[in-house]
Amino acid sequence: MALTGAHAPGATPLSDDDIKGLKPPLATFGELNEAEAANILRGQEWALRSRTTKVPQMFSDDYILSLHKRMYGDVWGWAGEVRPHNYDIAIGVAHHNIRPELRRLRDDSIYWIENSTYAPNELAIRVHHRLVWIHPFRNGNGRLSRLYADLLMIKHFKETRLPWGGGVPSAASRQREDYNAALHDADLGDFTALLTFCKAKTWPPAQAAPQEEEEEEEEEEEEDEDDDKA
Ligand SMILES: Nc1ncnc2c1ncn2[C@@H]1O[C@H](COP(=O)(O)OP(=O)(O)O)[C@@H](O)[C@H]1O
Ligand SMILES: [Mg+2]
Repeated sequence: MALTGAHAPGATPLSDDDIKGLKPPLATFGELNEAEAANILRGQEWALRSRTTKVPQMFSDDYILSLHKRMYGDVWGWAGEVRPHNYDIAIGVAHHNIRPELRRLRDDSIYWIENSTYAPNELAIRVHHRLVWIHPFRNGNGRLSRLYADLLMIKHFKETRLPWGGGVPSAASRQREDYNAALHDADLGDFTALLTFCKAKTWPPAQAAPQEEEEEEEEEEEEDEDDDKA
């Protein structure tokens, strides 16, 4: 069966073999997105409740595979299984390196946490990037890695989830384009754009300049008042 309609830009291509794993009878990418979204909500509820969502357990391969199964198991027969093939295009590490790379990510994450190398949001953003760079699964890597970063923020750091530029949409948009470009920069070691994107509440970020000018004016007025009093 083939899915019709537009697949999101930057989305990993699904092979005929991947599509054979589809559980419900869906016809379009739109329907697929909806079915996955409903499943992801259930996966998120599980992850927020589960006692296994804690450091260091959540860095294990087993946890990451379970999270994928919980997020996509109603839709894909291969949910929770490591990607068994490589892509013609440059996405993800070679499939036989997925498990070694997940272990390297676990070790790096534990080191970063123990040494407070990064602020919580930067740590979560870097872990999210590395997960999506590894691309452990046939599909769903972007959404899983963003939820995973949010789980670190909420469950480990006891902070609010990341705003992700107001949310990464599944359809073609400026937001998705900029997010994908920022991920590419991060692949090359430059995290500036990705950090800005993931921490922004809206995208493109609201212009701060006029408000700053107003604040400066207010400060000047206060200073004038102080001068008057003196
Ligand atoms: N060069 C890249 N480096 C890292 N991640 C990338 C790159 N290009 C795309 N991605 C990520 O891969 C995701 C697509 O992978 P996919 O498995 O289809 O995830 P999802 O189905 O959740 O969108 C994109 O949303 C993006 O997060
Ligand atoms: Mg996808």
